[in-house]
Amino acid sequence: MDTINTILPANVILEYSYLLSAILFVYGLKLQSHPDNARRGNQWAAAGMIIPMITTLLLHKNQTGAGIPLVNGVAVVITTIVGGIVGTIMARKIKMTAMPQMVSFFNATGGAASAVVALIEFNKNPDQAVLVGLLGIIIGSIAFSGSMIAYGKLDDKVGDIFSKSMTYVNLVFMLTIMGITLFVLLGGLSLETRTFLVYSLLTLSLIYGVSFVMPIGGADMPVVISLLNSLSGIAATMAGFIYKNEAMILGGILVGSAGTILTIQMCRAMNRSLLNVIIGSFGGGGMAHTSEAGTVKEISMSDAAILLSYSAKVVIVPGYGLAVAKAQHLCHDLEKLLEEKGAEVKYAIHPVAGRMPGHMNVLLAEADVPYGKLMEMDDINPELPNTDVVVIIGANDVVNPASEDDPSSPIYGMPIIKAREAKNIIVMKRGMGKGYAAIENLLFFNDKTRMLFGDAKGTLQNLVNEVKSL
Ligand code: TAP
Repeated sequence: MDTINTILPANVILEYSYLLSAILFVYGLKLQSHPDNARRGNQWAAAGMIIPMITTLLLHKNQTGAGIPLVNGVAVVITTIVGGIVGTIMARKIKMTAMPQMVSFFNATGGAASAVVALIEFNKNPDQAVLVGLLGIIIGSIAFSGSMIAYGKLDDKVGDIFSKSMTYVNLVFMLTIMGITLFVLLGGLSLETRTFLVYSLLTLSLIYGVSFVMPIGGADMPVVISLLNSLSGIAATMAGFIYKNEAMILGGILVGSAGTILTIQMCRAMNRSLLNVIIGSFGGGGMAHTSEAGTVKEISMSDAAILLSYSAKVVIVPGYGLAVAKAQHLCHDLEKLLEEKGAEVKYAIHPVAGRMPGHMNVLLAEADVPYGKLMEMDDINPELPNTDVVVIIGANDVVNPASEDDPSSPIYGMPIIKAREAKNIIVMKRGMGKGYAAIENLLFFNDKTRMLFGDAKGTLQNLVNEVKSL
């Protein structure tokens, strides 16, 4: 190490390693913008994380010029290895359909880590970077408890609690947190009072995280998930400021800004305003909407095969049920078969289909569906009136016309794939189960709609066999 130090001082190497880490993060993110490169992007970004961890451990020095004490270094290495093993096992074991829950859980741990760092450093050095310390505690705690509730909701362990009064409760929480923060910032408090207020902020923020996510239900969870994601990034940035560590600051900023962009996109996709998300007042937790639904009509497997085989233009709308059934490969088989028979086949991808941003893109990429066949909602909608058959596979809320027809519906105003405008509609689902928003879907009762009931995998397998035999 001494030889290196004589050529390049340790702090210069450290700074360059942080710069390299930032470059790797950005490069990794760039690669992740396309499914073909996403895996490599993840690996580059992981390298961007490991490099500064190693260089900090070896080269970091405090103001007195002392390096990291051996016992701390050993503790960091052991916890990193244990955490790495636990994370790897979880990621390998998790089912594809449970991925959103795992993302929420990891997001919660990120928020908690930042809040703990901010709290410890704040207690150690109460006069330094007060605002940054307080923000780290508040934002990290909200990200932690909010993400844990989101995890519980996605995993069906936590129900929605919706009442109009929650809006006001949340507003009171927010104002109280802001008031206490301001009070602490103004200074002039005894150490005891300040410590009491800081722990009150921690407690209130944890409760606020719960109360702000709790009422959000129905189809609105995507917005809150991306918002929590951006909050955990901002909390990490605060922790980075406390340690004056550029790698943490940059990593946190990238997560925070990516999460914020995603939040804005999700808001647009759901046609909701961000303010409504923050005060947790929209989307009434899955209130059932009743209506005179009418009757549904089924189609036989052979009739479905004939209809599809003689169609010139087919659009497939994948949804959460396709992921549950793990039927993406069979879906691709059907698409190829129909193309062999001369049909043009495209996929209509709704931005919140499934349970996580980009869920359908990832699922279909896994089955090697060419990326060019995936059409965004706004691009495919104008083509639907000229489409012979729309095949809806395990999708529900994202094609629900209540969002256009029924002002009392919790999803009213959310843009949808306009499947009902196609000439024929085939719906594959197991029964008349509702979607995530827990509301009736009148599309299934439409005159042009025919149902193919059953698990999507079995149904698709039978349909593929039937089309082949024609
Ligand atoms: P959903 O509206 O949730 O509908 C999925 C449908 O799939 C269900 O109605 C279900 O009906 C059917 N299904 C389930 N398992 C199946 C299987 N094995 N085979 C065939 N069908 C099956 O899905 P969507 O249209 O993709 O909409 C997504 C919803 O989740 C939206 O409300 C969205 O806001 C919400 N959400 C999205 C995200 C993100 S970021 N994408 C995050 C959280 C929540 P049966 O029970 O009758 O089969």
